[in-house]
Amino acid sequence: MALWAGRFKKEINENVNAFNSSLSFDARMYKHDIMGSQAHAKMLAKQEIIDEQSLNEILTGLNEILHDLETGELLFDPNAEDIHMFIESELTKKYPVSGKKLHTARSRNDQVALDLRLYTRDEMKDIKDMLIDLINVIIEQSSKHLETIMCGYTHLQRAQPITFAHHLMAYAQMFYRDITRLDDCYERMNVSPLGSGALATTTYPIDRIYVAEQLRMSDVTDNSLDGVSDRDYAIEFANALALIMMHLSRFSEEMILWCSWEFKYVELDDAYATGSSIMPQKKNPDIAELVRGKSARVISDVATLLTMMKGLPLAYNKDMQEDKEALFDAIDTVKLCLPVFTDMLKTMKVNTERMREFAAKGFINATDCADYLVKHGKAFRDAYKTTGELVAYCIDHDLVLETLPLEIYKKYDNTFEDSIYEAISLDTCVHNRQVDGGPSPVAVKKAIIKMQEKVKAL
Ligand code: ARG
Repeated sequence: MALWAGRFKKEINENVNAFNSSLSFDARMYKHDIMGSQAHAKMLAKQEIIDEQSLNEILTGLNEILHDLETGELLFDPNAEDIHMFIESELTKKYPVSGKKLHTARSRNDQVALDLRLYTRDEMKDIKDMLIDLINVIIEQSSKHLETIMCGYTHLQRAQPITFAHHLMAYAQMFYRDITRLDDCYERMNVSPLGSGALATTTYPIDRIYVAEQLRMSDVTDNSLDGVSDRDYAIEFANALALIMMHLSRFSEEMILWCSWEFKYVELDDAYATGSSIMPQKKNPDIAELVRGKSARVISDVATLLTMMKGLPLAYNKDMQEDKEALFDAIDTVKLCLPVFTDMLKTMKVNTERMREFAAKGFINATDCADYLVKHGKAFRDAYKTTGELVAYCIDHDLVLETLPLEIYKKYDNTFEDSIYEAISLDTCVHNRQVDGGPSPVAVKKAIIKMQEKVKAL
């Protein structure tokens, strides 16, 4: 018998019941539903809307339900419409008189809005911790490779020399921003909608602030229509998750390239790679590929949420039940990807010789060659043109700037001296880029320390 049976003359059609039910996916909010109900019941008793005995029975009953769900003694009833109805009806089975009082001055509309906020709040904390672990591993690997010369790319063409540490630390910045985005979202999310009722609050003398305080929420929502129909926090959170996945996906793409036979910059630990069923030589970067692939679903979860919300009139509409699967999928995907990606990164081996060998081949010191002329009094545009001609000469004669004889340099510009070789050595190129945010070991060390301090302050 449904809770609303009074108004109806027939039982709900079986298929409609299954169609309508959100229990299969909202059951995961059981703890938060119980937590919210307990805070609500305490407030009802404090305001003398229910008596102390009812409160005690409600609190005890809910604690027992929590315990029994966690131990598996109580199973979710797939026929229940949602987690809220399920828990209330279990409570009423235990304490028929008091259980029926719990929903006084409350609606499922403000209840679900509260539960989802409480649930996402916990998930956000978990994800934040996972991001911190990832940043720490990036820092650990970077600290080992402050001097590891690597070719930096633009357009995936060899550009200028950097270090592996510098390249890795770029990702630490992204993941740090992701954390701050979660923190921002947390502020707007950690507000209690309870008391909004179905849409227009209630005539009972409730104390909304007290409920918010019980739940460690910083404020209450200021408009009851908005309180029950706002899902911005879910969309913001999903969006922050999509950005995390976008960052992970870019990183994955690079890992895949670096693991290729062509690059061979890194080698994955055997425990974090897979083989082929037919090609014995293969070692595949499946983790990175799957992370890159899974970014698609989180990005589309954001689109699902926005599209689901965009045409809804105020206040609550059942469409909003669809918020959960999309948001939960985004959360689950990120929580699946982050730890395994972090471990893959922690255990990878870096082929520093190979990186250096490649860095030496692509004329990535050409800018420094031009800068040499500028430092000796030439205008940059002229120096740029001369260097371009030198590069063309090298390509024609199978040379690089490091092996080009001084007399040839001098033919193009007499300013060149023996010191050019020192100026264009990869180590000089990297070490001289000491500007804050640059690739020199001094600058990257500074960036690492700054990042460590920021992470510590989180
Ligand atoms: N399962 C519903 C949801 O997730 C709970 C709220 C239902 N409210 C209602 N008036 N039918 O949105």
